[in-house]
Amino acid sequence: MNIDAMARKLKRYLPDTVSSDDLQQKAELACEILALKEEKNAVILAHNYMSPDLYYSIPDFTGDSLELSRKAAAADCDVIVFCGVAFMAETAKILSPDKTVLIPAEKAGCSLASGITAEDVRQLKARHPGVPAVTYINTYADVKAECDVCCTSGNAAKVVAALDSETVIFLPDEYLGRNVARQSGKRFIFPSKRPGAGDEDAPDGSRMIGWQARCEVHEQFTTADIARVRDEYPDVVVLAHPECPPEVVDAADYAGSTSAMIQYVEASAERRFLILTESAMCENVAAAMPDKEILPHCRIRCPHMARITLENTRDALKYGRYAVTVPEDIRRRAVHAVERMLAIG
Ligand code: 13P
Ligand code: SF4
Repeated sequence: MNIDAMARKLKRYLPDTVSSDDLQQKAELACEILALKEEKNAVILAHNYMSPDLYYSIPDFTGDSLELSRKAAAADCDVIVFCGVAFMAETAKILSPDKTVLIPAEKAGCSLASGITAEDVRQLKARHPGVPAVTYINTYADVKAECDVCCTSGNAAKVVAALDSETVIFLPDEYLGRNVARQSGKRFIFPSKRPGAGDEDAPDGSRMIGWQARCEVHEQFTTADIARVRDEYPDVVVLAHPECPPEVVDAADYAGSTSAMIQYVEASAERRFLILTESAMCENVAAAMPDKEILPHCRIRCPHMARITLENTRDALKYGRYAVTVPEDIRRRAVHAVERMLAIG
């Protein structure tokens, strides 16, 4: 695509407040990235939380964590550039160890992934021998290596059901765990501090032993936000990501992964939506569906996703940085959990 065509494309998706100089600069940058991508035989994967200038210009594929894991596993290229956070790029490396996987910003973290360590999982498993451990994909490779299977927001309930076990360990997102426990008919409990001291040791019922990490974006949404918006716009359809607190998911009309929410809005005959998730995705949906009104209320940007820009994606390809590495002994154990999830669906 030439620079003029790219500028025209970006104009369709970016707000009118972006000046023509800015538009031209972004178009030049995007075209430079596309040329480098060609030269390096690279594929660019971009999460739904990328900002509209990046999301609508350079990716080969966009999607949620599950879709991007599938693309990473199947990618036919030498280099994968992952426009997302570190655990996502790491998952791509786990699945494609022979490819160079680059993340444009080295420190693009995630409050869930940093909320648990491999040692935490080892201790939990030692206290619950034989109990399968499910890890949300928002964890680092050493945590995945200790777990039996991975899940994403798009398939968590299905993964838990596939284990066919009364008790499961579900890590590390407390709210996703609580939401999935309810779907799965399990009682959500926290691990006790020492063996025999808490209700995780009680023999009754179907239990999900959870953890206390939270997404720093989704934990901020409240039922008061929803009530306020419903008051002002009685016809609004409210969508929430399952990392939101359970009472927020309850008060919403639909909960699903980032891609599931996009598809919901696309397929809906309704006109007005409140999407309780990361703000760049709301902008992307609003830009792609001008016939729908995506309310600008309650918008929160993920500071980690926001680190990825067109500029550092260009530099990633130009200078081969930052290459993701996973020690082979950890990768070999972590890949089981990820592949098992992909096989479940
Ligand atoms: P999805 O898998 O639904 O895209 O979620 C990823 C994420 O980090 C949500 O905050
Ligand atoms: Fe992590 Fe939340 Fe950011 Fe997603 S939005 S990457 S879960 S901190």
